Amino acid sequence: MRLTFLKNREKRPDRISISPLRVDVHSHLLPALDEGSKSVEESLDLILELRNLGFQKLILTPHIMAGFYPNSPHKIQQRLLILREYLEEKNIDIEIEAAAEYYLDAFFMKELISKNELMTFDSEEDGKKYLLFETQHLHEPKQLFEAIKRIQRRGYTPVLAHPERYNYLQRNRLLVHQLYETGVLFQVNINSFSGYYGNESRELAEYLSVAQMVSFLGTDCHKQEQIEMLQKTMDSPMYKTVLRAGEILNNRV
Ligand SMILES: [Fe+2]
Repeated sequence: MRLTFLKNREKRPDRISISPLRVDVHSHLLPALDEGSKSVEESLDLILELRNLGFQKLILTPHIMAGFYPNSPHKIQQRLLILREYLEEKNIDIEIEAAAEYYLDAFFMKELISKNELMTFDSEEDGKKYLLFETQHLHEPKQLFEAIKRIQRRGYTPVLAHPERYNYLQRNRLLVHQLYETGVLFQVNINSFSGYYGNESRELAEYLSVAQMVSFLGTDCHKQEQIEMLQKTMDSPMYKTVLRAGEILNNRV
């Protein structure tokens, strides 16, 4: 285990310290694709707020979840073009790209062994294709490690969305470390640091930050209420400590 740990750690990108955060890698601001923004107008309002918080580039990541949000890469790309055009019309100077937040279900497991290209956010700097995925909250999914293996086999780098929010990780730090050692990168929600998702999420977010295991930060923005909390969190001294932990790769994508 120790050797595997060292081997995987060596493959990770160099650590950099950044401030402020210019790129967001997780949000639900493509209109009417999931439970986030419902219209281009709402997207515009929220995007302007994120720009006021210092973001210059947003990776928009609608859910892909069989039965609930059956979004295809084609549909997501089309919606991205519509939103881009609208922002251009309004002279809004911000870069937007699209990826997805894949829910670990049978559909995703199948996609991973198909030849279909998956939605990722990419880094020209390190040449990696980062694939954002989420899981159920209560129990460790049976296929968690198999999914990770399949993601890696396809040449993607797995990024687990908001690990701090999953009950099965909140009560099992060993599993947190096992995932990390397997090469999973962690994307923590900024608002977790202020307790927006509860104390357990805040505690695990802080633990990951102190352990320098946070690779990406995300707004996971769906609605206005979260912007207000983001503003407060990003103004707090604790958030500055998180950025200084020197683990955050956002500005590389
Ligand atoms: Fe999300």
